[in-house]
Amino acid sequence: MRTGTSLIAASALLSAVFAAPAPAPNRVKARQESAVQFLDNTNNPTATPYGPEGASGSLRGGLELAGFNPTNLISSYDPAVVPSSAFSVGPLQTASADTGFYLDLSRIENPQPIRGAGGKSPTDPGPRNRMLEKQNPDLYAPPGTDSGDVANAKWPLGLSHNRHGLNGAGFARQQNVDLLPVAKNMAGVDMHLEPYAYRELHWHQANEWSYILNGSVRLNAVNEAGETTTDDLSAGDVWFFPAGIPHSIQAGPTGVEFLLVFDEGSFSEDNTFLLSELFARNPKSVLAKDLRVDISALDHIPQDQLYIFNGSAYPANVSDPLNNITGPAGVIPNKNSYTYHFSEQAPYEVPGGSVKIIDTQTFPAAFDFAVGLFTIKPGAMRELHWHTTSDEWDFIISGQGRLTLFQAPQASRTFDFQAGDVGYVPVVTAHYLENTGTEDLVYLEVLQAPIYNDISVAQWLGLTPKQVVKEHLGFSDDTLNRLPKIKPFILPGDTDLGQTNFTSENE
Ligand SMILES: *[C@@H]1O[C@H](CO)[C@@H](O)[C@H](O)[C@H]1NC(C)=O
Ligand SMILES: *[C@@H]1O[C@H](CO)[C@@H](O)[C@H](O)[C@H]1NC(C)=O
Ligand SMILES: *[C@@H]1O[C@H](CO)[C@@H](O)[C@H](O)[C@H]1NC(C)=O
Ligand SMILES: *[C@@H]1O[C@H](CO)[C@@H](O)[C@H](O)[C@H]1NC(C)=O
Ligand SMILES: *[C@@H]1O[C@H](CO)[C@@H](O)[C@H](O)[C@H]1NC(C)=O
Repeated sequence: MRTGTSLIAASALLSAVFAAPAPAPNRVKARQESAVQFLDNTNNPTATPYGPEGASGSLRGGLELAGFNPTNLISSYDPAVVPSSAFSVGPLQTASADTGFYLDLSRIENPQPIRGAGGKSPTDPGPRNRMLEKQNPDLYAPPGTDSGDVANAKWPLGLSHNRHGLNGAGFARQQNVDLLPVAKNMAGVDMHLEPYAYRELHWHQANEWSYILNGSVRLNAVNEAGETTTDDLSAGDVWFFPAGIPHSIQAGPTGVEFLLVFDEGSFSEDNTFLLSELFARNPKSVLAKDLRVDISALDHIPQDQLYIFNGSAYPANVSDPLNNITGPAGVIPNKNSYTYHFSEQAPYEVPGGSVKIIDTQTFPAAFDFAVGLFTIKPGAMRELHWHTTSDEWDFIISGQGRLTLFQAPQASRTFDFQAGDVGYVPVVTAHYLENTGTEDLVYLEVLQAPIYNDISVAQWLGLTPKQVVKEHLGFSDDTLNRLPKIKPFILPGDTDLGQTNFTSENE
C-alpha cells in the first residue's frame, strides 16, 4: 500500500517543474496543459475541483506517487492466487494437456483455467464472468495442442442487438462481418414472426438462403418473367430468393422462426429494399402515374418502415385463388423452384449420426449454396476435414459441440458452441465438430458452392500408399490397416469424454 508524502515535498517538486526552461514549442501539449488548468482553475493537480455540493476529494493523486519512493514500499500483500480449498477440479482437467479432452466446467462451482500441469494451477482470482468461461472451456483452459493466433470463429446471436418489429410482431437479430470479422463471405439473420405477422415485402442485393427453425410460413414471389410462386413451408424446410427477386414472407397460424444466410459478409438486415421506403422515396405524382391511379389512392401509404408488422389470417389453402395469383406467364416451374421441402428428405445414416445434403443437384435455384444438415450423437463427431473452395458458415440448431481450427503454418484454436451460435471456418482450414453434450448436436454447414464438397483426412490417408503414411507419421501396420477408403462423415464416440481407445468401434 502506498501512503501520502508531505505536501512540502510535492510543492518543491512542482515549482522545480514550472521553473524549468520552456520545452521546444509543441502546440498539442501546450493546449492539453492549458485545458487541464482551465478545468481545475489551478496549477495544483490535487486541489479539490469545483464540484457539486457534497463532493469531496480530488480527481488526481499527487506527483509523489510516481516511481520509487522509500515511503511507499508495499507493506502487505493481497492474495492473487485462489487457494486450492476454494475450488474443485474436474476429472479430465488433470489429464496431460495434449490429450485436449473437453472439460465440462458447467457443474463446477468455481472453475479454474487448469489444464494438466499437475492439476493445481493456474488459478483465476478475477475479475471474471463465470457464465462465459463455463460455456467456453476450450478458450479458458485450452487444449495443449492449441497454438498461435486464430481469428475468432464464434458469434453467439444472443450477443446481437435484437431489432423488434411493430407492436410485438416479431424480431430479427443478425451476425455479419462487423460482429465477426473473419466472416467475410457470408452473414446470417435469425428472424421470428408472431402468428400471421409479415416480414415486409422487400428485395436485396445478396442471395438469400433460409432454413425454418419453428412453425410455418407462407411465401409469394414474382420473377423477371412475371412468373409467380407460392408455397407453405414448415420447420426443417428451405427457401432461396435470388438477389433482386421481390418476395413476401408471412408467418403461419402458429408463428415462425427462421434462419437466413446471405452470400455477402457485409449484408445487413437494416439495408434491404423495403416496399414502404420505395413508396416514401418517390414523388407521389410519379407513383400515381406509374400505377394509373388518382394521387388520393396514396393517402394511406405508410409514413415509416413497416419491416416486421402484424397481419391478418391468410386463406388456409395455399391453392386458394385469393393466394395463388398467376399472370399469363404462369407459375415458376418446380425445377426452378424457390422452395424445397427439406424436412421430408430422409437422412443418410451412419453409426455416429446422420446427414442431409441440399445443393444444386436437387435445388438448382440456390446456385451458390451447398448445405449439410448434420445430427451428431452424444460423444460422436463430424470427422476432421476441410472444404476446398468455400468458407463454411455454421449455425447450431440444438445441442453443443466444439471445433478446432487448424490454420497454416502452425496455429490452432478450439471454440465451444451452443444452440443459437454462429461459427465460421475459412476455406481449406481443417476442422472437426465434436458433440460435447448429452443430447444430439444438430447444426448446419453452409458452403458458398454449387456442390457440397469436403476432403476427409482419414480417407486421404487411407488412399495414400501405406509406406508414405508410415514414413510421415510412424504408424504401426495395424494402425495403417484401420485407415478407411471411404469417407466416414461422422465418427461414433462415447459419452465418457475421457475415452482414448476407439479401436473396438472399427471392428
Ligand atoms: C424451436 O426449434 C428448436 C430447434 O429445433 C427447438 O430446440 C425448440 O424447442 C423449438 N421451439 C419451440 C417453441 O418449439
Ligand atoms: C396480430 O394479428 C393477429 C391475427 O390477426 C391477432 O390475433 C393479434 O391480436 C394481433 N396482434 C397485435 C399486437 O395487434
Ligand atoms: C384447395 O384449393 C384448390 C383450388 O381452389 C382446390 O382444388 C383444392 O381441393 C383445395 N384443397 C383443399 C384441401 O381444400
Ligand atoms: C397456382 O395455380 C397454377 C395454375 O394457375 C398451378 O399450376 C399451381 O400449381 C398453383 N399453385 C398452387 C400452390 O396451388
Ligand atoms: C484398445 O481396445 C482394444 C479393444 O477393446 C483392445 O484390444 C486393446 O488392447 C486396447 N488398447 C490399449 C492400448 O489398451
